[in-house]
Amino acid sequence: MGGWTLENIDWKGFQKDKVDTSLVKIVRAASMVEYRSSDYVLYLKKIFSDDKKFINLIEKWGYEEKLHGKALAKWLSLADPNFNFNKSYDEFYKNYSIDIDASESLRGSRTGELLSRCVVEIGTSSFYSAISDYSNEPVLRQICLLIARDEFSHYSLFRRCMKTYQKNDKINIKQQVFIALGRVFEATDDELALAFYFGNELTGAYNRKKASNEYAYYALKLYKENHVNKGIKMLFKALGFSSRGLIERFVTKVVFILLKIKIQIIQLRIKYT
Ligand SMILES: [Fe+2]
Ligand SMILES: [Fe+2]
Repeated sequence: MGGWTLENIDWKGFQKDKVDTSLVKIVRAASMVEYRSSDYVLYLKKIFSDDKKFINLIEKWGYEEKLHGKALAKWLSLADPNFNFNKSYDEFYKNYSIDIDASESLRGSRTGELLSRCVVEIGTSSFYSAISDYSNEPVLRQICLLIARDEFSHYSLFRRCMKTYQKNDKINIKQQVFIALGRVFEATDDELALAFYFGNELTGAYNRKKASNEYAYYALKLYKENHVNKGIKMLFKALGFSSRGLIERFVTKVVFILLKIKIQIIQLRIKYT
């Protein structure tokens, strides 16, 4: 995993005139969610408290997620000097908490927890690939490419670990699909919406649906069919589906069409709320 630091980024190559303001909005939210990794490290360490080998890997994983937050925040300091990362992050931190005291996985089992982590990493891996491909600003492209590679490694780590746990802690395919889809829909929960709200200093009281719609609009429009296809391939592999080619392509087409419809619906919601 990883192997890069902030010194590996070509900061001198930054080009202010190539900054896309809609990307700035989602990078503000992403930087804070990434920087928040320490809570998830605590949570996972409790869930896997007797697995020393995995705990070491969780710590490394948390370090890398935090590095993602730092790299994005540093890019924002160049692209968007008015953005006060510390102030927005403090607000976000105060207003959103995860259950770090849980001693059992919120997903019902360790295997379920690892599958859920796979889904998150599939989401982040395709998200940063999409930003990297969309951005004309070379430093953001470089950062997002490095992050996307890390996220793919994280997915591989959790998938490998899930395979090990599955031997003794088996969950059936119905439960797996339920957990995976459940985690996909959680992507519209408070965490990203609040990060977007505080990151972009939206006016008026916090409205989860409104903030969530705005975030989703700016994020989803970046996705091309190849990003969706990559995500579907990773998901199918995590679920252990063996025969994949034709079905993967079909599911990709369907998901991509649904994504386009969802963007239209979100646009209407933003316009009329
Ligand atoms: Fe990350
Ligand atoms: Fe990750």
